[in-house]
Amino acid sequence: MEVIIRPNVEAAAELVARVMARELRANPRLVVGLATGRTMESVYARLVHMHREEGLDFSACRTFNLDEYVGLPGNHRNSYRHYMNRHFFLQVNIDLQNTHLPNGLADNLKGECAKYEKLIAQCGGIDLQLLGIGLNGHLGFNEPLSAFNSRTRVKVLSPVTREQNALLFQRPEQMPNRAITMGVGTILDCRRCLLLATGEDKAAIVARAVEGPVTSMISATALQFHPECTFILDEAAASQLKGKDYYHWIFENQPEWEYFRAVSPADGSGVLQNRPPQRNNRRNNASNRSLPNNRVRPVKNSLSS
Ligand code: GLP
Repeated sequence: MEVIIRPNVEAAAELVARVMARELRANPRLVVGLATGRTMESVYARLVHMHREEGLDFSACRTFNLDEYVGLPGNHRNSYRHYMNRHFFLQVNIDLQNTHLPNGLADNLKGECAKYEKLIAQCGGIDLQLLGIGLNGHLGFNEPLSAFNSRTRVKVLSPVTREQNALLFQRPEQMPNRAITMGVGTILDCRRCLLLATGEDKAAIVARAVEGPVTSMISATALQFHPECTFILDEAAASQLKGKDYYHWIFENQPEWEYFRAVSPADGSGVLQNRPPQRNNRRNNASNRSLPNNRVRPVKNSLSS
């Protein structure tokens, strides 16, 4: 595991987006695992910007999201399909047929989970998995006591998760009690994992995930077993780590990070600096994209960020 600490949220999100962009340029057919949550919104904003301004091409890549609520249709403003369409898919040139989320409305949820695993395998596995972290240390919706070899399945959401995510629902009681999530084992199988955590409220759980003992009570500690996992943090989320100086030293001296030290300035002023007004680009404009029948066009301005 590596830990990279950037001075602020912008610089941390910038680095995550730059890593993904570089992998995608090296392999346009990259299989990317995607995450949702407030933290990821700034990553998607940067990827969209790189698409518009630098021609970052998503046309051949395939994506698999970590999770989806059980019982929410794709056009529900709190479904993760809706989140992904709104923040990312409909703003870049990705083929929606190549974007996958578990179907939380499936009649046979167990069959849906098995199908999801099979589809990931058919695509050759996930090359790069983006991850956030819940306040209880969950990855996706792998709540406390998730087995480290678990695969995609339905999980009952913990009270902590319910409290954290219900705030995003218009009426908290609308939040489903269950979700389909990739398992910890599914995540550990990904070739490379990038976890982004920002803000002081994540500092305690980040410290336990990185430096604490491995325990299934905190799913993110399983990442200590992953051969290529990077935590990218802002100063606030890193504030309770004991080994900060060591982590900084590694980032400054590791040749693999040289390119990123150059393109991703510490002040986060990279991609979105001097952002020009958005162009009415027909090719990229979400409202001009035709959607397959089973896809849902996001309702404009319907989500609070
Ligand atoms: C949800 C998602 C997780 C994500 C977490 C963090 O619970 N299932 O994958 O890591 O939110 O969310 P936020 O970035 O809003 O703190």
